[in-house]
Amino acid sequence: MQIRLRDPRLPVIRTKRLVLRDITVADISPAYIAWLNDPETVKYLEIRFRRQPPDIVRKYIEDRLKDTINSHHFGIYDQNGQRLVGTVTLPRINRRHGYADISFVIGHPEASGKGYASEAVHGICYYAFFHMGLTKLWGGYYEGHEASARVFAKNGFSVEGCLRKKLLSYDGRRVDHILVGLLAEEFKPAEKYLGPIPPLVSIDEDVP
Ligand SMILES: CC(C)(COP(=O)(O)OP(=O)(O)OC[C@H]1O[C@@H](n2cnc3c(N)ncnc32)[C@H](O)[C@@H]1OP(=O)(O)O)[C@@H](O)C(=O)NCCC(=O)NCCS
Repeated sequence: MQIRLRDPRLPVIRTKRLVLRDITVADISPAYIAWLNDPETVKYLEIRFRRQPPDIVRKYIEDRLKDTINSHHFGIYDQNGQRLVGTVTLPRINRRHGYADISFVIGHPEASGKGYASEAVHGICYYAFFHMGLTKLWGGYYEGHEASARVFAKNGFSVEGCLRKKLLSYDGRRVDHILVGLLAEEFKPAEKYLGPIPPLVSIDEDVP
């Protein structure tokens, strides 16, 4: 586990196998555009309602780079930080109340089923609780989306609510929106995701 702070840019977070950092315009590749438009990848995401051509993606990335106060949009990179395989996002950070929601995608076709989403979510939980000082993270998924449910559960999130028949599923059914949450005090950093974890240095520590 390694976190390199780069204020006002997002930090670079290294977990066991992944690098999490901001996505720059230079990272927008044809492969990235392709998975943002792949019906199978986006079937549980809001972006499925609108095609994502390069100009829209570019505008989104530029907006995210400008605002690192209210949202954090991280790219997930494997191959020693070289290949963009997904994203993990805190789309709305509420600093007054100390919470944020979290969402994730593993879009690269060669990257799914390797535990990457679980590892990336773990890295962001660590950063959100121990560096940003947030008290709570929450997320949501479509009823029946088992992979998403597993990623949250493996990170210690528990089901906190169910908004009945709130969402329109990709197959036209109405399904529940399952809400999950995790408190800072419940989060147990795991070396199997993060690698060796350095001791935390308190920012209030008196340094002579
Ligand atoms: C959901 C998603 C992020 C999972 O990414 P991933 O890197 O493959 O996830 P992980 O490998 O970390 O873990 C997935 C878990 O779900 C399980 N899983 C996957 N598909 C499953 C299914 N159809 N039924 C039951 N469990 C399933 C896996 O076995 C694994 O659990 P395990 O470690 O206990 O075996 C990825 O498939 C994705 O991006 N989907 C599209 C976007 C999306 O839906 N994002 C979530 C929005 S909340």
